[in-house]
Amino acid sequence: MPLRASPIRDKIFTASKQSSIMQRDIKSFLNPALQNIATYKVEGGQQAEIKLNQNESPFDVPMWLKEEIINEFIKEQWNRYPDILPYRGMKAYADFLGVSADSVMMSNGSNEMLYTIFLASLGPGRKILIPDPSFSLYEKIALLLQSHIVSVPMLPGLDFDTDAILRAARDEQVDFIVLSTPNNPTGKSLSFDEVRLIAESSEALVLVDEAYIEFSCQRSALELIDGLPNLVILRTMSKALALAGIRIGFAIANPLLMAELAKPKIPFASSRLAEITLTRVLANYSLVTDAVSFILHERDKLYRELLAIEGIEPFQSDTNFLIIRVKDAGAVFHSLQSDGILVRNVSGYKFMDNCLRFNVGMFEENRRLIEKLRTI
Ligand SMILES: Cc1ncc(COP(=O)(O)O)c(C=O)c1O
Repeated sequence: MPLRASPIRDKIFTASKQSSIMQRDIKSFLNPALQNIATYKVEGGQQAEIKLNQNESPFDVPMWLKEEIINEFIKEQWNRYPDILPYRGMKAYADFLGVSADSVMMSNGSNEMLYTIFLASLGPGRKILIPDPSFSLYEKIALLLQSHIVSVPMLPGLDFDTDAILRAARDEQVDFIVLSTPNNPTGKSLSFDEVRLIAESSEALVLVDEAYIEFSCQRSALELIDGLPNLVILRTMSKALALAGIRIGFAIANPLLMAELAKPKIPFASSRLAEITLTRVLANYSLVTDAVSFILHERDKLYRELLAIEGIEPFQSDTNFLIIRVKDAGAVFHSLQSDGILVRNVSGYKFMDNCLRFNVGMFEENRRLIEKLRTI
């Protein structure tokens, strides 16, 4: 039977035809690599009564310190650009680390620095080695830059496979190696000697992302930058320093390498607010060390409590977060969410089926998490 004319159906048909033409046309003028990457999303959102899904510090900067920072920021001229590069913030962090100011570069979060360093190193035909699983942004930027990814699986227990990394770096002649250690999302670390061995035995640029180093029992690779011209260290102020909302990251490398890596850097990317905040927080660093001690103590307590819960397998962690394996990660995620507890479902990562990730929270938040997990 012929279809009767319907203005609504005609409208839907025209709209869907238009959208398929649009899809085709849009793709034709964009980077083809966009077809292989997804928009960044946080499952469950970023709001919750007990928010444990982004590896943040549970401690906000105290009000007296926020007031000090704002009082200084108020005196700035907001109509003027900040410095091209945030020299004052870079000097403050260099002094804090005991390195020269020209070995340090500050960014608007360490994610921005990752884009800068990847732009400086990668491009079509270039090869990057990424352990798997690791921080998802590495793969995303490498794909965008149409580089070849050499993926090196972790061991099934989630530890790094150092021998496989060394072998792949040599056999594949990679140009760039990125190591998140301690690693997100596994919580496992390479030892200082393993990092040194990888950097020493490779011709590649080696980026060591130390986002969680303040929580680690491993020594930072920072002291190696003088002797290893291919080594860059990445740091963030978003985790132990509790400044995720202010957006501050750093790279540290030999000054000659740093000068090259800085070339693709977005000018004026860090605000004066970020520089002032950093300087003031570094001047009150006991706030950070106290928070780290609390988090490590709570993490170890949580781990022991999790071990005692039937049906839950916790993994040892060298960070401010824990990984657990459960029978049905999706069901546990939703059950926690319905009680106002937001964690991260990391089941999609290699070797991490039915795994959940959550950072250590305040005492009461951790207690409620454990209580809820006992009942599920
Ligand atoms: C390993 C790792 N590197 C970098 C980042 C990015 O941190 P930010 O951009 O907040 O400095 C994160 C955030 O979770 C991370 O886990």
